Amino acid sequence: MEDNIIEIKNVKFKYEAEDENDIVYALKGINMNIKRGEFIAILGHNGCGKSTLAKLINAQMIPNEGDIIVNGFNTKEEENIWDIRKTCGMVFQNPDNQIVATIVEEDVAFGPENLGIPMPELRERVDDALKTVDMYEYKMHSPALLSGGQKQRIAIAGILAMNPDCILLDEPTAMLDPNGRKEIINTITSLNNSGKTIILITHFMEEAILADRIFVMNEGLVELEGEAKKVFSNVKKMKELGLDVPQVTELAYELKINGFNIENGVLNIDDLVSEICK
Ligand SMILES: Nc1ncnc2c1ncn2[C@@H]1O[C@H](COP(=O)(O)OP(=O)(O)OP(=O)(O)O)[C@@H](O)[C@H]1O
Ligand SMILES: [Mg+2]
Repeated sequence: MEDNIIEIKNVKFKYEAEDENDIVYALKGINMNIKRGEFIAILGHNGCGKSTLAKLINAQMIPNEGDIIVNGFNTKEEENIWDIRKTCGMVFQNPDNQIVATIVEEDVAFGPENLGIPMPELRERVDDALKTVDMYEYKMHSPALLSGGQKQRIAIAGILAMNPDCILLDEPTAMLDPNGRKEIINTITSLNNSGKTIILITHFMEEAILADRIFVMNEGLVELEGEAKKVFSNVKKMKELGLDVPQVTELAYELKINGFNIENGVLNIDDLVSEICK
């Protein structure tokens, strides 16, 4: 099996517009390789092309130029769509838009049922998925009465029940309160620990620092990539791109430019304390 679960090769994409002068490339030449089991975060200012890229990975749209290969399947080939969506499930921002049934377990069963998974395997997959996101006891509840974080966990369970190797989440915590955000981030990290590849699009820097690798996009291109420590050591560049860095990183940076001998890319309070005490 190939080492990269996803390969994105020089991908360009434009949305059609009535007036030809209005056509702009949303993606202008993206290259990314994502290894099996990796936890990737994608950051970038509004409109830089993150969701466009997610839709291309999920084969909802195809590149105008370049290729996206998911688990060996090129998204350009129509017959690969189901293999691609089975490999890489997608979770969206608004939990309400993802719920299709009036009972939690029916909602989770929707995806695998459409894949033609028969009983009793279907039952088993639904139960396992609900246990994984810690929502098993709610299986006979109505999703409408759940909190945002719980609904989003149900959406994740629905994807898990299809047994994907990779889960792509487009700002899954953007509409949640701090508790709901914590629930989802805990769920995501434990899924990654159990071997799932995670691609998390987010505006929250505290979420991005949990990833193995971060890609920072700007105007349809990847501007920075690497481990959190490396990416966040570019405080000035991140600000130029309209992004924040974690608060501790910013404080460390301010101390450094004011003459303190502090390493770049400090990500947490403990590291800052030991840098200051050095
Ligand atoms: N359906 C569409 N038709 C035309 N242009 C679009 C469409 N969807 C997105 N765009 C444009 O493509 C560019 C990239 O948009 P995209 O939604 O991928 O950005 P994003 O990084 O996900 O932004 P956000 O952080 O706001 O979610 C933007 O300029 C946007 O206006
Ligand atoms: Mg988006």
